[in-house]
Amino acid sequence: MKEGKVLVRFRLNGKPVETFTKPNDTLLNLLRRNLGITSVKRGCEVGECGACTVLLDGNPVVSCLILAPTVEGKEITTIEGISKEGELHPLQQAFIKAGAVQCGFCTPGMILTAKALLDKNPNPSLREIKEAIQGNLCRCTGYTKIIQAIQLASKEIKSSCISD
Ligand code: FES
Ligand code: FES
Repeated sequence: MKEGKVLVRFRLNGKPVETFTKPNDTLLNLLRRNLGITSVKRGCEVGECGACTVLLDGNPVVSCLILAPTVEGKEITTIEGISKEGELHPLQQAFIKAGAVQCGFCTPGMILTAKALLDKNPNPSLREIKEAIQGNLCRCTGYTKIIQAIQLASKEIKSSCISD
């Protein structure tokens, strides 16, 4: 053990990770500073903007409010972990197609939140989509294109399940 630091071991995008952290450091800092995952955005740092969202065992969480040592043994997914064999996830493709990315600051967190929704509910209603993304703020798009992108991805995922 390094002085004043604790070892934390978890899986990041399917791969095992071991790193030292301060007991009171956040998962946001651990991912960005220790591991260089800068797709996890530093926004408000008080749990209000959703820019730092990651999936923790499949559920969206704001990493600025999670203490780093508490992810011991867990699975963390960031936007880097959702494409497969070099192919973008249907949500990533849909965000591009629908023009749902402007400055892109909210995009990784927004897509991860949407992924958690579609993983649990592949056919969400408009209301369910709005409720799911209510903690992810976007200052650019007005949300319409983001919602369209999630609906488009939902259709793509359903049709690929039927054709499999
Ligand atoms: S930076 Fe975590 S919610 Fe805003
Ligand atoms: S695209 Fe700029 S904040 Fe959402």
